[in-house]
Amino acid sequence: MNKTVEINITKTTTSKLQETDFDNLTFGHILSDHMFVVDYADGDWQMPRIVPYAPLTINPANATLHYGQSIFEGLKAYKNEHGEIIVFRPDANHRRLNESGKRMCIPELPEELFMEGMSQLLDLDREWVPSKPGCSLYIRPFIFATDEFLGIRPSFKYKFMILTSPVGNYYSKPVSVKVETHYSRAIEGGTGFAKAAGNYAGSLYPALQAQKQGYDQLLWTDGKTHQHIEESGTMNVMFVINGTLVTAPTNTGTILKGITRDSILTLAQEMGMPLEERFLGVNELQECLENGSLQEAFGTGTAATVAHIQRINVNDKDYQLPEKSSDAFSNRVLKKLDAIKYGLEEDTRGWIRKY
Ligand code: COI
Repeated sequence: MNKTVEINITKTTTSKLQETDFDNLTFGHILSDHMFVVDYADGDWQMPRIVPYAPLTINPANATLHYGQSIFEGLKAYKNEHGEIIVFRPDANHRRLNESGKRMCIPELPEELFMEGMSQLLDLDREWVPSKPGCSLYIRPFIFATDEFLGIRPSFKYKFMILTSPVGNYYSKPVSVKVETHYSRAIEGGTGFAKAAGNYAGSLYPALQAQKQGYDQLLWTDGKTHQHIEESGTMNVMFVINGTLVTAPTNTGTILKGITRDSILTLAQEMGMPLEERFLGVNELQECLENGSLQEAFGTGTAATVAHIQRINVNDKDYQLPEKSSDAFSNRVLKKLDAIKYGLEEDTRGWIRKY
């Protein structure tokens, strides 16, 4: 991290800042003025640069287009009341990017390139970080193969890029989910733990079927038996059952090691919330819905932070969850997490970096 990274900067001459409506931000539609780019070739990362956000020229034989050798990350920057920019746990994102990269045969990205690229990009586009409560600048680091070759093998060349996008809430209301017992998101030995582009592509069709039936997302079950719950949509999922927080463990290699998940588990322990990292059976979930012991269910991820679940379909039966009071664990932990992210509560865990 101490190595200096020389980044060549070309500023835009046509900023989109003035025409951007910061009062009506949705997720992922607006991209900020600049992007960070660095190429991997001849065994090394070369020519780090920040350039105006613009389309890329891609060779039709590009390996990513054909074989999907591509990974990404997601994190957020917030503006505090002093106008400082706060980024939440970027070191964890860098670590996970390289864990995903290893599984996908993508070369390791040095921490200083990740941190310095992000830091200089944020500095240049600091006006793009929204200051309105609930809004943030979504940061999307990603790496993809750039060989022009139709044979199948790990690419020799890659691009690492960082885009940023001012965003509002990911979900505007609590979501409805359906337990999926036919399609699988991940299997043991597969790529489920990695933030690999193909995992998301493969989840689209099953999610679309659920959406046609009136649900927002799926509750994914394990790929072998479909008898226990693993994730929700693109998020980790947590339940509060009889006052205990229950979430799936991440040691099977099928579940993303969510940074929001990890942060919530840390805060839950500090808040004295009983906690079990164990698989929740589909039938057990149904029993808990029937006997009223399931108090809360929510997805956790960078984009939504906490996505409250209001309706769950299990074994073709719909169950409505109780209304969440402000006292509900999911609301209390979200409030605490937001306070840390917006710099309103002291960061005693080394989670935030200021720019
Ligand atoms: C996240 O919330 O962590 C995500 O990866 C969401 C993204 C697919 C939009």
